[in-house]
Amino acid sequence: PEDIRVYEFAEKLKRPMSDIIKVLFDLGMMMTKNDFLGADEIEILSEEFGVEVTIIDPKDEFNYVEEAKADEDPNAVERPPVITIMGHVDHGKTSLLDAIRNAKVTEGEAGGITQHIGAYTVSQDGKDITFIDTPGHAAFSNMRQRGTDITDIVIIVVAADDGVKPQTLEVIKLAKESGKPIIVALNKMDKETANPDLVKGQMAEHGISPVDWGGDIEFVPVSAKTGMGIDDLLENILLTAEVLELKANPNAKAKAAVVESSLEKGRGPVATVIVQNGTLKIGDHVVCGAAYGRVKALINDMGKNIKSVAPSHTAVTVGLNEVPPAGEILMAMDSDKEAKEYALKRKEYERNKELSKSTKSSLEDMTAMI
Ligand code: GTP
Ligand code: MG
Repeated sequence: PEDIRVYEFAEKLKRPMSDIIKVLFDLGMMMTKNDFLGADEIEILSEEFGVEVTIIDPKDEFNYVEEAKADEDPNAVERPPVITIMGHVDHGKTSLLDAIRNAKVTEGEAGGITQHIGAYTVSQDGKDITFIDTPGHAAFSNMRQRGTDITDIVIIVVAADDGVKPQTLEVIKLAKESGKPIIVALNKMDKETANPDLVKGQMAEHGISPVDWGGDIEFVPVSAKTGMGIDDLLENILLTAEVLELKANPNAKAKAAVVESSLEKGRGPVATVIVQNGTLKIGDHVVCGAAYGRVKALINDMGKNIKSVAPSHTAVTVGLNEVPPAGEILMAMDSDKEAKEYALKRKEYERNKELSKSTKSSLEDMTAMI
């Protein structure tokens, strides 16, 4: 529900945007006018400006079209859509991601394919589509809370032989709240027991009405096992993306979102990122939350070393001094000094937040004792 951008917040407060950005900056948070404010930031800003904030006006399901247009920068050009696949456990999210990749990657390139990767890009009819492998919808919520929402389209996978399950309902709720366009993949259509109409009925009961039933959501029958329907699914994604008019400026300074991260032997901290705007290049001074560094290497989804990453594309980034959490934003800075300064500020902010948390709880403990 906290879907408010920095400039919208400034307008609501009737304050110059620079004031808002400065307060955030002083707390070690780099935000630009189009960034979404998370619940934490809204709380801090409300305190800072002495206002009370009530969050109303939950996002209308179709606002995304407007928003995508508001994002236009005169130098922005078309960028590929970024897709998140969500669904109930065992309904085939991972299998579907693998099937898409296998269907689209040519034999010669297949080297790195069995290896797990956090995100990858495939081409369909000469257009790119980037998929994020979400371990669960926790990551998706986490990113939204951090205001680092990188998903353009949500795919809800439902096994056609199993139907709507508790996690399917959670995912429907999340997807609706996000305001992102939804496509339903009816998976496991190869199974004898697949009953797509039953699933459509169940989904319609929860507000996800199929287009062929007069609704507004595309349901694409697929089988991750046989590869059936994969092309249809990708074509649907491209059609949906076209309406969104997704754009980014490849000449801007890079801004990317971390989809996963780890400490690797020999490489140090690594982060798989998806570039949201600008181009991430080797040699860039970057800050990523409390981590910072200089991009030493970029490795694409085929395991190849590359020199730069364009908007909506993905790469493993090597060169940070510590492991940033998934959902964190990585930004290119003008200098090493600037990157370090931001990172230190952020560290201090996090330390203070921890401290205030522990004082709060100890106060609560004390009251409980009395
Ligand atoms: P979690 O990550 O555990 O939530 O599961 P998931 O949604 O990623 O499902 P996964 O891809 O692991 O698939 C679960 C099981 O269903 C596996 O045994 C798959 O082989 C099987 N499966 C997935 N897709 C299909 C399909 O299209 N047809 C058939 N017959 N089996 C499938
Ligand atoms: Mg899985």
